[in-house]
Amino acid sequence: MKKMLIDGGDKMDQQNNFNVGELLAGMTIKEKIGQLIQLLPSFVKENASGAVTGPMEQMGLTREDISNIGSVLATTSAGEMMEIQKLFLDKNEKKIPLLFMADVIHGFRTIFPIPLAIGCTWDMELAEKSAEISAREAAAAGINVTFSPMVDLVRDPRWGRVMESTGEDPYLNSLFARAFVRGYQGKNLRDKERIAACVKHFAAYGVPEGGRDYNTVDMSERVLREYYLPSYKAALEEDCKMLMTSFNTVDGIPSTGNKYLMKDILRDEWGFDGVVISDWAAVLELMVHGVAEGRKEAAHMALEAEVDIEMMSSCYVEHAEELIKEGMISIEQIDRCVYRILKLKEELGLFEDPYRGVSVKKEKEVLLCEAHRKSAREIAASSMVLLKNEGVLPLSRDKKAAVIGPLGDNKEILGFWICTGKSEEAVTLKEGISGKILKQNILYSKGCGITDGTDEELEEAVETAKAADVVILALGENQERVGESTSRAHIELEGRQMELARRVLELSKPTVVVLFNGRPIEIRELLSSCSAVLEAWFPGTEGGNAVADILFGDVNPSGRLSMSFPYTVGQIPVYYNNLNTGRPKGSEDNNKRFVSSYMDIPNSPLLPFGFGLSYSKFEYSDFKLDKTSFSKGEVIKASVKVRNSGGYTGIETVKLYIRDLHGSVVRPVKELKSFRRIKLVPGEEQVVEFQIKEEMLRFYNRKLEFKSEPGKFKAMIGSNSSELNDIDFELI
Ligand code: GLC
Repeated sequence: MKKMLIDGGDKMDQQNNFNVGELLAGMTIKEKIGQLIQLLPSFVKENASGAVTGPMEQMGLTREDISNIGSVLATTSAGEMMEIQKLFLDKNEKKIPLLFMADVIHGFRTIFPIPLAIGCTWDMELAEKSAEISAREAAAAGINVTFSPMVDLVRDPRWGRVMESTGEDPYLNSLFARAFVRGYQGKNLRDKERIAACVKHFAAYGVPEGGRDYNTVDMSERVLREYYLPSYKAALEEDCKMLMTSFNTVDGIPSTGNKYLMKDILRDEWGFDGVVISDWAAVLELMVHGVAEGRKEAAHMALEAEVDIEMMSSCYVEHAEELIKEGMISIEQIDRCVYRILKLKEELGLFEDPYRGVSVKKEKEVLLCEAHRKSAREIAASSMVLLKNEGVLPLSRDKKAAVIGPLGDNKEILGFWICTGKSEEAVTLKEGISGKILKQNILYSKGCGITDGTDEELEEAVETAKAADVVILALGENQERVGESTSRAHIELEGRQMELARRVLELSKPTVVVLFNGRPIEIRELLSSCSAVLEAWFPGTEGGNAVADILFGDVNPSGRLSMSFPYTVGQIPVYYNNLNTGRPKGSEDNNKRFVSSYMDIPNSPLLPFGFGLSYSKFEYSDFKLDKTSFSKGEVIKASVKVRNSGGYTGIETVKLYIRDLHGSVVRPVKELKSFRRIKLVPGEEQVVEFQIKEEMLRFYNRKLEFKSEPGKFKAMIGSNSSELNDIDFELI
């Protein structure tokens, strides 16, 4: 990360003659504090009408305050952005343009699969492409910054925001964090088709106790650094321009007021000199948490933690000036915050062109264009995971197919954070299938709702299924019931969906289940009773076409789970890189007592991290290491042969795991350290090679030193995290 120059002004940038330092030096205190405020665009519109009413009044804001703010969030079009920017600049004395920010999480108008689905692609190029297209569309609509990527590591599907994460592994999450930042920002933020990224939610928001959103997060600093911080750091190393604080506490202090996290680690240790923004009203919430008595103390804590922008609350605007006058906060501290914000505006070219060249005409050309839809379809198909297939898929095109279920012809398959995406523009599963087989060969019945249903609907669906050769059962979640503030204590399919599935399965017809959901759900019964199960997640605008591409064999499924599916909710948290304990159960058929196990369920997840099937058949053989001991600076070459003995060309993700058999702290039974995606035609065999390096073996020890320790290790290789070949080696 680049070090910030703030000695009265940054070096003149060759590309432009704007000097942020000079602007800063000429600003009043009120103008400086204004830059730290972010509000909804309606505040600017309202102020234009001169009325100090409603939310503005409730937040104690004056017209002068509004005329000095630094940024707005959640505009949705080029027209709105141009209107707001003009209204604002007409009133802002120094003509400092607003920054426009929004939650462009998995698409802007063309909606891509949810990030948890993209995490199952294991394909950084596809992830980067989805972010690049999202940036192109968002920039065309006047957005300058996206509140993405969300890189919180997740282990608890009761938490509805797992949909926004790429999964349970720090190494994989870190690669995706980098890919998304590259996609959004490109190489130069002056490129008007790129936007700044904002990595979130720092830190460890993804593991609230009980899976309940906004709840307490508490863990050792060692675990925090080992598992939860790497993906944020990876995004910042990729030059991510902004970072958002998380709502939760970390070690008893809410992130937004947590100086150790925000300043000691983020600024001082990592050297991050970009913009830090609070999450929505998280500065004010320091009072609710109980670490700040009033708004003034909340402002003081957050400023001390070097949180530059207060989103949607007004502690800074009410008390920052007072804090400066009382010497509680230095003007230099305020200047650092303001400088970082102005620097970002300068990097985006806003001082040359506050509108960044947007136009309604260009917006119309770019949003949801055919090329973007085509990419969305490709990425969606690559994100889907084949969980079971007993000779049913791919479907032949001359059979009569009954599409049954609440998600069979449902356009609500975009997910939760859909920006300006419109469900009516989504392709449903039934519509996708109608692009593959004759319409007269497609039957359809809804069968029930996602959370409700009638006997008549259910009976009609059974009759429809009877008339078909194969049944495609489309089940899942309501897209409004995943995402923020959607925690569930039970994670089965809701309503009468399982009743519908049982009735259809009684017909003993080949039945394929297609799941549209935003989190791992309980599917034990479905997995055992159906011939095939395809996890489609919330696949986005082109979802129905992508599912149909897989069902009929035009795409060979290649997705691999980036988050474990629990056997049941009582097993949570369940994840692949667990510790061994002193009484490991070992294999599931070990019925001994006094081992770490349940009396009523297995220890293993229903489906493990890395799992996914293909229409191809991949066989591993000849796993070897070129040496079984090495020292720092050397590498061990690992290789394995992978052969496609199936009849379809397919993509396999070959994964290398490593276990440190003895450490100064207990080490996980396995950790993902590398992987290769390879394409094999039928009968083809490839030798896949990896290099095992000493840095792969480093971890945080008791003293929080990140280092390896000599000793014995196990290298494991395979298609998922449970079926592995292994070889021992030693670091000397
Ligand atoms: C929300 C979310 C955050 C989002 C922000 C702005 O509360 O926690 O992820 O970016 O507010 O919408």
